Amino acid sequence: MNKNELLELLNSMTIKEKIGQLLQLSSAFYSNKDVVTGPLRFLGIDKENVELSGSTLNLVSADAIIHTQKEHLEKSDKKIPLLFMADVINGYKTIFPTPLALGCTFHPELLRDCARIAAKEASVAGLHVTYSPMVDLVRDARWGRVMESTGEDSFLNSVYAKEIVKGYQGNSLLDEYTIAACVKHFAAYGAPSGGREYGWVDMSERLLREQYLVAYKAAIDENCALVMSSFNTLNGIPATGDKWLMREILRDEWGFDGVIISDYAAIAELVAHGYAKDDKEAAKIALEAGIDIDMMTSVYVKNLEKLIHEKQVSIDLLDESVLRVLELKNKLGLFENPYRFANPTLEKELILSKEHRKVARKAATESMVLLKNNGILPLKKSIIENQKIACIGPYVDSKSLYGAWSIFGNREDAITLKEAIINRKEDIQVEFLDGCKILSEDPWNLDKRDITPLEEEKMLEEAIHLASNSDVVVLALGEHYIYTGEGSSRGDITLPKVQLNLFEKVYEVNKNIIVVLFNGRPLDIVSIEGRAAAILEAWYPGTEGGNAICDIIFGDVNPSGRLSMSFPYCVGQVPIYYNNYNTGRPANEKVYENRYSSRYIDIPNKPLYPFGYGLSYSKFEYSNIGLENTVLASTGSIKASVIIKNNSEYSGTEIVQLYIRDLYGSVVRPLKELKGFRRISLQPYEEKEVVFEITEDMLRFYNTKMNYESEEGEFTLFIGHDSSVSNGINFILKK
Ligand code: GLC
Repeated sequence: MNKNELLELLNSMTIKEKIGQLLQLSSAFYSNKDVVTGPLRFLGIDKENVELSGSTLNLVSADAIIHTQKEHLEKSDKKIPLLFMADVINGYKTIFPTPLALGCTFHPELLRDCARIAAKEASVAGLHVTYSPMVDLVRDARWGRVMESTGEDSFLNSVYAKEIVKGYQGNSLLDEYTIAACVKHFAAYGAPSGGREYGWVDMSERLLREQYLVAYKAAIDENCALVMSSFNTLNGIPATGDKWLMREILRDEWGFDGVIISDYAAIAELVAHGYAKDDKEAAKIALEAGIDIDMMTSVYVKNLEKLIHEKQVSIDLLDESVLRVLELKNKLGLFENPYRFANPTLEKELILSKEHRKVARKAATESMVLLKNNGILPLKKSIIENQKIACIGPYVDSKSLYGAWSIFGNREDAITLKEAIINRKEDIQVEFLDGCKILSEDPWNLDKRDITPLEEEKMLEEAIHLASNSDVVVLALGEHYIYTGEGSSRGDITLPKVQLNLFEKVYEVNKNIIVVLFNGRPLDIVSIEGRAAAILEAWYPGTEGGNAICDIIFGDVNPSGRLSMSFPYCVGQVPIYYNNYNTGRPANEKVYENRYSSRYIDIPNKPLYPFGYGLSYSKFEYSNIGLENTVLASTGSIKASVIIKNNSEYSGTEIVQLYIRDLYGSVVRPLKELKGFRRISLQPYEEKEVVFEITEDMLRFYNTKMNYESEEGEFTLFIGHDSSVSNGINFILKK
């Protein structure tokens, strides 16, 4: 349809038909008819509302979507097709590592490829929109949803956001194998007070703009089709009712003219926030803020018509929102073909194809981070052929490798660590035991034990016996996947006690422990870190997880993952992030000689492992860091270069990271900020020069007048392996 035809359609619609387009209902309302009288009757949605609704969430599969669309159109007087949206967060059926893990690849093109594959599988399954990418900046590992973000750095998250949107949307939403992206959760949902889910967010506009809004903007600049408003308040105003955020920034400043969808029930929640007196006022506030689609409540359908008749809300506002929804359907080509690319045959053919699994395996190996290695890894042939390996732990043979937001992935498709080792058919002496369950308690009801103490004791004894008769132990530990994701904030971010006990008992009889971690958030692992021989952070590695872990521990792949989020020394440090400030009394990390300095008296300031950190089997050496010029003019650029040598027998990939510190300014500036990175592959003993262009725009920040500008002065440039790099070289900006 062209614009005029869309306007004609809009003008032909009744007010009920218009409001219906702003209602999104879950799949339950379309798959079984009694739902309007059944458990969801409290929603007050009636049959007519369902028939007039504009979109649905999490109804998937080509057959179901074709059937539902057909039924819907038969009842639609204006033949307006339904939009099918879903949470395809890290893959549809081929499941990739969780986004925080993918963030550790420092490989943006790989994230684009994962999104492209997710879009391919989801589009032939009939889907039109994914509620992804989630680009909330995260600094607090207590918050369960850190696993959904690509991490703590706004620059890195922005680079990823662009690539993920490109992967989903391709060049045009009319092209096959594409789906529309929905960037979320706008805005700053990742900074809840105390790390507590749905918590209030308070921060200066400077911090908001400088750190928290950057990645959303990157997605919008990449033409991301939708934005999802967040649950949280921002400086006292719920984002979902915040005109400043939704209209002044998102639409007026950034020029976003796409659809804004509320998060689940977030419009109704304006009442609970104490920002709306009742649903009717909530409807007025949300529509005026520019929220187009009301996800899963009846607030719009029950109140907008009255508000318009009472002239409390202008019909123009309603038309504006409805037109955006119709335009999105038009961009997807739904008026010409309401079934778009839904194809049951292709769905079977493409999903979990060999090519997709191959990319999933690559993504998993590149997202894993080697945190510690005393040289025991990679397990050499000499160990494999002559020594006995014990694989112990609740994740040894667990299929639960997907994380909390892989709701369409079948866990049965995952390759476990045990299966992968067996599939290698190596001449390897290995035995497998769980040693304990992930939790002693029922994960869904922590007051109920899931295993009797006697059974637990027996599992432990068998594991200790095996470990005492083995040369090396691979200990697969982790947090239960429902301990991360939405509604999973934790005050204690250590491993489950039963697993810590397993480590202790195994360590008593065998010191050669390789810990493999399966978790969504950075954990507090300080109690085991000092005694493990090696620690591989596998995160939730997805469908090919087991194979990817084997690729690394047996040396087929040299690990290259670098942390996208700091690992705290303990939960007392969070929120912790590398780009923090010097303070007026910086503590001397080496010797805490001065009590009156910015430090804790009982724990270090430094995280256990910093942003950007990760080991490799190679030994990368940096030398000859230099600047072609130490004066940068505002219009020009200066080259910074470094020589990287792979001083080892292993070929490998190094992530060379560029940080800059503004030594003084009209506001205090972070100790360092990531301004660039390069993935470079080096053969054994090979060396390469890496060059970065330093330009004035890298030095901009929000000054005291909230202008985004650079200021003349002195800067220190660091090029290193991770954010703890300390020796830098100085240059000045001369405007
Ligand atoms: C959830 C999440 C959001 C998700 C939506 C639809 O509450 O906050 O990320 O996309 O509802 O499932």
